[in-house]
Amino acid sequence: MSSPSQTILGSRKKYMATSTPTAPSMETLVSLAKRRGFVFQSSEIYGGLAGFWDYGPYGTEMAKNIRDAWWKHFVYQYPNIVGLDSTIIQNPKLWKASGHVDTFVDPMVDCKFCQHRFRADHLTDFETKNLTEYDTALTKVKCPHCGKTGGFTQTKQFNMMFKTYVGPVTTEDNVAYLRPETAGGIFAQFQNVLETSRQRIPFGIAQIGKAFRNEITPGDFIFRVRELEQMELEYFVSPDVGHTEHQAWIKVCQNWLLSIGLPKDKLKLYEHGPDERAHYAAASVDIQYEYPMGFKELYGVAYRTDYDLTVQSKGSGKDLSYFDEPTKSRFMPHVIEPSVGVGRLLLALMHAAYREEDVDGEKRVVLKFSPEIAPVKVAILPLSKNEKLAPIARGIFDQLAGSYRVEYDETQSIGRRYRRQDEIGTPLCVTIDFDTLEDKAVTIRHRDTMKQIRVAITDLPEQIDKLIKAF
Ligand code: GAP
Repeated sequence: MSSPSQTILGSRKKYMATSTPTAPSMETLVSLAKRRGFVFQSSEIYGGLAGFWDYGPYGTEMAKNIRDAWWKHFVYQYPNIVGLDSTIIQNPKLWKASGHVDTFVDPMVDCKFCQHRFRADHLTDFETKNLTEYDTALTKVKCPHCGKTGGFTQTKQFNMMFKTYVGPVTTEDNVAYLRPETAGGIFAQFQNVLETSRQRIPFGIAQIGKAFRNEITPGDFIFRVRELEQMELEYFVSPDVGHTEHQAWIKVCQNWLLSIGLPKDKLKLYEHGPDERAHYAAASVDIQYEYPMGFKELYGVAYRTDYDLTVQSKGSGKDLSYFDEPTKSRFMPHVIEPSVGVGRLLLALMHAAYREEDVDGEKRVVLKFSPEIAPVKVAILPLSKNEKLAPIARGIFDQLAGSYRVEYDETQSIGRRYRRQDEIGTPLCVTIDFDTLEDKAVTIRHRDTMKQIRVAITDLPEQIDKLIKAF
């Protein structure tokens, strides 16, 4: 049993070179996500609700791994980035000041023939702030639902913020909004965080949390939803380095996406034109991923200039400018904002990891996640429910569970259990069989090579650790 991890990995390198992604359709991903417990329709027993999705047991683990990976990379690796957890509902004046109440809008049209509602920019494939340009273009566009041409209503702006009432009185005076981006809370707490964390510029505030958008046309599974989760960083810099820092953060975000398993050839940059940028941005670059419906925004990296702190200073009457001790100057910090949705990233990672392979004439579906992202790291599989195997398998579970997300499964044939673990992307399976009773050893099976090695139980934690690190 010398150096078993090398045996397994030696062949893996060769194997990976010939293993190409399968580029699954959206239907394939939706079906796998449902079948294996990654994503379910929200309130499915009532027919669901458009734009709302629940994460099942494996989706929950995977989303947590994505959040943890992001936090480790973007917060723990920088001494000058700190965290915040602000509320979903804020004083509505914040959203008035930010411009969201007046300008967080999408252009909307209805088809007069079939009453279906659409985003005008999705029908025309261009974005403009001049609504009559949509009206002109739409006279020649076919309705994607009923196929008739020239039946669209005049384009109207639709505000995407969800409204609610705070307290028991439902009047306009008590209107509040579910936050449309987590960033608002960061700007409102800028001064408190600056003072309590004793940071100096440049420094960043990171936040992960839910945001809500009443999208006109949610769709493409979890790509465009109405309740989403964002991982946002607001990085405060002095005005003279704004553009340089913007470019630098685009690189950092791209590299992080590669490090967690997205392939380079499925990512590209898209620079927004002046008519496409959000109302707060002076420059904006999307890192797009090639989803089944084409290249679409995965990660937005915006240069928000001093827009936010300036408007929040005006709105609140509190001076949010910054005094720079070394230069004895006061200025309004500029902001670089990398922002990515957990759901969009989860979908991209599932898509990139998906493989269909022929194994001895049978189809094997496998998600080749990096162990950091995989919902389960190790599956413990006693060969049968035999009463002599169970305590050993339980002991191994207890031993590994402190370090990894481990799954215990003793039902069905071992072949079917391997396939099931392949489909959820589990890197390693540990099988306890009847020989274990004699040789006090178990089998480790590698997800990618499907090779198996025999390892003494006493060496198991060390071997698992080595193998996980070598993926
Ligand atoms: N604070 C900046 C901001 O919210 P955004 O480009 O509107 O910018 C940032 O959103 C990221 O949030 C997007 O790149 C995407 O990953 C995610 N996102 C935005 N709207 C979404 C939606 N309706 N459904 C799923 N994810 C969404």
